[in-house]
Amino acid sequence: MKIAIIGLGYVGLPLCLQFARNGVPVLGLDIDAAKIASLSRGSSYIRHVKDADLASLVQQQMLIPSTDFSRIKETDAVIICVPTPLTKNREPDLSYILQTGESIAPFLKRGMLVVLESTTYPGTTEGELRETLEAKSGLKAGSDFHLAFSPEREDPGNPASQVGDIPKVVGGYTPSCLEAARRLYSQAVKAIVPVSTCRAAEATKLLENIFRSINIALVNELKVVYSAMGIDIWEVITAARTKPFGFMPFYPGPGLGGHCIPIDPFYLTWKAREYGQNTRFIELAGEINTAMPRYVLGRVAEALNAQRKSVKGSKALVLGLAYKANVDDDRESPSYRLMDLLAEQGAEVSYYDPWIPVVRPGREHAHWAGKKSVEWNQETISNFDVVLISTAHAAVNYRDLAFWARCIVDTRNACARFAEDFPGKIWNA
Ligand SMILES: NC(=O)c1ccc[n+]([C@@H]2O[C@H](COP(=O)([O-])OP(=O)(O)OC[C@H]3O[C@@H](n4cnc5c(N)ncnc54)[C@H](O)[C@@H]3O)[C@@H](O)[C@H]2O)c1
Repeated sequence: MKIAIIGLGYVGLPLCLQFARNGVPVLGLDIDAAKIASLSRGSSYIRHVKDADLASLVQQQMLIPSTDFSRIKETDAVIICVPTPLTKNREPDLSYILQTGESIAPFLKRGMLVVLESTTYPGTTEGELRETLEAKSGLKAGSDFHLAFSPEREDPGNPASQVGDIPKVVGGYTPSCLEAARRLYSQAVKAIVPVSTCRAAEATKLLENIFRSINIALVNELKVVYSAMGIDIWEVITAARTKPFGFMPFYPGPGLGGHCIPIDPFYLTWKAREYGQNTRFIELAGEINTAMPRYVLGRVAEALNAQRKSVKGSKALVLGLAYKANVDDDRESPSYRLMDLLAEQGAEVSYYDPWIPVVRPGREHAHWAGKKSVEWNQETISNFDVVLISTAHAAVNYRDLAFWARCIVDTRNACARFAEDFPGKIWNA
C-alpha cells in the first residue's frame, strides 16, 4: 500500500514520518514549493521533526515530497491535513479543504480511501468534501471510493507524546469506509477508536478543543478573582491537582494561542446557528480568554507605576513569542496581542524567543514580520524597564533573568521560586 498525505505542516509532516517509519511509503504533497524543496533536502522546518529522521526516510524513498498532485493516482489512500482557519468575519474557511478536494478528484480511482484530518464542523466530510470529490470525479463515495474523518491529536512540544501512541478516533461514511480507514491507520497507530459516523468523529475533535478552551477560561477568570483576594492561583491549582479523581489541572496564561483552541470552537458556533442553537459556553470562554491580554497590560502598567514609570516611553521586552512552551509555532500567539497593546500605549517593544529568531511573514501579525529576537545576555536584558513573560520556554534561564531584569511581569509562574529573593521585582499576571 502507498499513501499520499496532503498538507505537510505541523500535523501532516509528523504523520508522514509515522507511516513511513512503519513501512508504508508516503507521497507527501504540498502547494508550498519551498517546503517541498526543503523536505527533499532532508531539512525540516518543524523543530520537533528531526533532520536526521527525515533525511533517512527521504533517502530510502519511504517519504517522497512533491508538488505534483497527479501522482495521487499511484496511491491507495489520501489523507488531508490542510488548514481550517476562520475568515476575517470569524466564519469557517473551508477553502483549503475544498481546493484540496478539487486537486484529488481527477485522480480518484475505485477502491481508494480519502480521509480528512483537518478540524472542522460536523457534516464537512460527508457534505462539502464528498460533494466536491464526487462532482469532479464522477465517482460515488461509499460505493466507488471510501471516505472517512479522523481528527489529528497532536501535543506539540511534548516529547513524551508520539503520534503512534495516541489513540485515533475514526468515523466512516459507510461501515466499509470505516473498515478501510481502520486498516489504514492500524499500520501506524497502536489504538483505533471507531465511531458511528464522520460527523461523530468531527464532533469528538470539537469537544476536545472546546473542553480545553472552557477550562482555560475558567482558570483565567479564577486567576483574576483570586489575585484580587491575595490568593495565588498557581498554589491553588498545585494543591487541587493532588485530588486523585474528578479534577484535571489547567493553567492560566496571557490569552489563548495556537492554530486550534482559539479557532475551532467557533466552527461549531457557526454551524449550531443553522440548527437554531446557541453555544453560550463557547462564546463566554472566548470572551474571557480574549480579555486576558488587556488584564496583563494592566499588570504591566501597575508594575511600571511602582517604579514611577509609565507604559508610554518605556522599553518593554516580551519573553516568548511562540503560543506555548518549547515549540517554534507562533500562530495566533497572544504574545503578538501583547506587543500590539504595549506599542499602542507608546512602549518601545522588543521580544526574545530562542526558537523564533525572526518573525516570519504569515497570515496574521504581518506588521511584526522581519522583527528579530534580541540577544540573551545581561547587557541587553538589563536595559529593559520591564520583561513580560508570555511563554515560558524551558530553554530560558529564569534565575539569570531574575538577576538581570529590572522588573518582571510573569504570566506563567516561571519565576515564582525566586520571587522571595527579589522583593518587589517579580509581578504575577
Ligand atoms: N497544529 C496542531 O497542533 C493541530 C492539532 C490538531 C489538529 N490540527 C488541525 O490540522 C489541520 C492542519 O493544521 P496544521 O497545524 O498542520 O497546519 P499548517 O499550516 O502547519 O500546515 C498546513 C499545510 O497545508 C499546506 N496547504 C495549504 N493549502 C493546501 C492545498 N490546497 N494543497 C496542499 N497543501 C496545502 C500548507 O502549505 C501547509 O504546509 C488544521 O485543520 C488544524 O486545525 C492541528
